[in-house]
Amino acid sequence: MARTKRKPTIPNFLEMKRQGKRFTMVTAYDYAFATQVDKTDIEMILVGDSAAMVMLGYENTLPIDMDTLILLGKAVVKGAPNTFIVGDMPFLSYEVSAEKAVENAGRMMKEAGVDCVKLEGGVEVADTVAAIVKAGIPVMGHIGLTPQSSSQLGGFRVQGKDLTAAEKLLEDALALEEAGSFCIVLEAIPNPVAQVITEKLTVPSLGIGAGPHCDAQVLVMHDLLGLFDRFVPKFVKQYAQLGKDVVAAFSKFDEEVKAGTFPDDEHSYHVSEAVEREILEHLRKL
Ligand code: KIV
Repeated sequence: MARTKRKPTIPNFLEMKRQGKRFTMVTAYDYAFATQVDKTDIEMILVGDSAAMVMLGYENTLPIDMDTLILLGKAVVKGAPNTFIVGDMPFLSYEVSAEKAVENAGRMMKEAGVDCVKLEGGVEVADTVAAIVKAGIPVMGHIGLTPQSSSQLGGFRVQGKDLTAAEKLLEDALALEEAGSFCIVLEAIPNPVAQVITEKLTVPSLGIGAGPHCDAQVLVMHDLLGLFDRFVPKFVKQYAQLGKDVVAAFSKFDEEVKAGTFPDDEHSYHVSEAVEREILEHLRKL
């Protein structure tokens, strides 16, 4: 029997939290990989600003802009019609003013066609989140290690390691829920901090480096497929080594081209021997 996958909705995710059912999100940034995710039971795709690092080769996520993320979002939306798509808001697209944030979040929804937006920060962005939600745009929050503030945080470091910092994370999570976020990413925080935040939230927590107690888990696609080797964070599990397979395939192609064994008969267009003779004779005379 053919598998049927239906795009989940925000009420579905809230119900999953109530019923203690976990769900999964993975990043994707193009049509080809989005179509592969859509063939699985993974419920959500994040068109993350991590594209700046894993797709465009930057050192951090800051350089990517609205137009680029919208372009990538459009491709992912086309490739995964049965998956809930989250559009990441790039650095400085929502910090300047609530009006600008609503305008940019609206662009992400209208132009890319995503199902919600995601932005980083806690208490300090709660009013902005409330303004975007008031405009009818669903918002996913993101606290803990927030890569857009990595310079301020002193690098890509674990957050919430002492009582004061852990308490601040709980305040941030509750402020985002109060502001209307329907789901909150918890990145790189110790297990017990994520556990209590998850217990206190009525909306789902989505962990990345936040342990097993979160309601859902997310990984960056290039990390989980073994396609990004600049560094591998402790929380990443590589479920495949596609980088190695890709290098092997490129090398084999190169080898066969140089040896003259590709293209062979199987990968060439033919005509009958008589027509071939005729073509060769005629064209050579010209
Ligand atoms: O951009 C991204 O990939 C993210 C994840 C790390 C959650 O924000």
